[in-house]
Amino acid sequence: MKKQVLITGGTGYIGSHTAVEFIEAGYEVLIIDNLSNSKIDSLDGIEKITGTKPEFAQFDLTDKLKLNDFFEAHPNIEAIIHFAAYKAVGESVAKPMMYYQNNLGSLMNLLEMTKKYKTKSFVFSSSCTVYGEPEELPVKENSPVQEATSPYGNTKQIAEEIIRDFMKVEQDLKSIALRYFNPVGAHESAEIGELPLGVPNNLVPFITQTAIGIRKELSVFGFDYDTPDGTCIRDYIHVVDLAKAHVIATERLLNNKNKSNYEMFNLGTGTGNSVLEVIKSFEKMSKQKLNYKLVDRRPGDVVKVYSDTEFANNELGWKTEKNLDDMMLSAWNWENNLKNK
Ligand code: UFG
Repeated sequence: MKKQVLITGGTGYIGSHTAVEFIEAGYEVLIIDNLSNSKIDSLDGIEKITGTKPEFAQFDLTDKLKLNDFFEAHPNIEAIIHFAAYKAVGESVAKPMMYYQNNLGSLMNLLEMTKKYKTKSFVFSSSCTVYGEPEELPVKENSPVQEATSPYGNTKQIAEEIIRDFMKVEQDLKSIALRYFNPVGAHESAEIGELPLGVPNNLVPFITQTAIGIRKELSVFGFDYDTPDGTCIRDYIHVVDLAKAHVIATERLLNNKNKSNYEMFNLGTGTGNSVLEVIKSFEKMSKQKLNYKLVDRRPGDVVKVYSDTEFANNELGWKTEKNLDDMMLSAWNWENNLKNK
């Protein structure tokens, strides 16, 4: 019998790519998503790629009764991969309580279920946002966590602390927090990808939407930073590389390879790229010029952040395989496919 894994937020951007990787690795995937920021069509995309449509339940994880019923009906879940969360930085500043209630409420409900239903492995979707503006680059897992600059970022920090404290008293449970750098790109089939609702906040969907004509031009936020070309630097990671790391992290827990019952890993490539480098790569891969202008800095932006990959490479035995050009080409193919849908 196939091992069952529960992916919360599994119709979303990273969740759907991770569902594909788990199915391809031989697992049975169950998805819970409230579809607040994703579409049910992702399930068709997952099916087109893998030949399997995951079992799906639509409800909110803050609804503890429904969650309990779900676990009651699925007593054999071996691992939970928890993505479901609100993730818009600006929105979180305007609606902090909504973010705390949703992101932390759903986490606490799930942790309670792990105890009640003896689901021993828990993988949490965290973020490099916990490092703030790092004092040293590249950032290591033991680099200091800095005060969060938004309620969204704070939910990731508090969530890590909640898991840490819970694991101290629940020695039978095991957990890994994965700190993502900047996930971009899409599955090579172009059947699943990022689907921002409204005007995208993030760079790559804004680039592809501008290139396809949905947006007039891209604003590059800040050109006088202390970086080689004056624009901010990030560690962009292909979403498929990121998704694969979840399977590896889960198997580390399932096979008792973990060194302590709460571990955390950076998921990045180790390479920092500027906004202008991303644009250049996009122009090369899409074979067209992008309409962009240099404008004022965006408040709250970190100047430079990229990952130290040594711990994840050596301990997890995971390494990214795709480069920036692969990320841009796949993002562009996805945008084109969306247009034809
Ligand atoms: N940028 C632009 N123009 C845009 C959008 C972004 O120039 O229209 C620039 C930003 O200023 C930044 C870079 O592109 O320099 C990347 O910006 P993103 O918004 O794509 O990503 P961030 O690094 O700001 O944010 C990401 C995640 C957040 C997370 C944060 C942690 O989206 O969820 O990393 O650092 F909190």
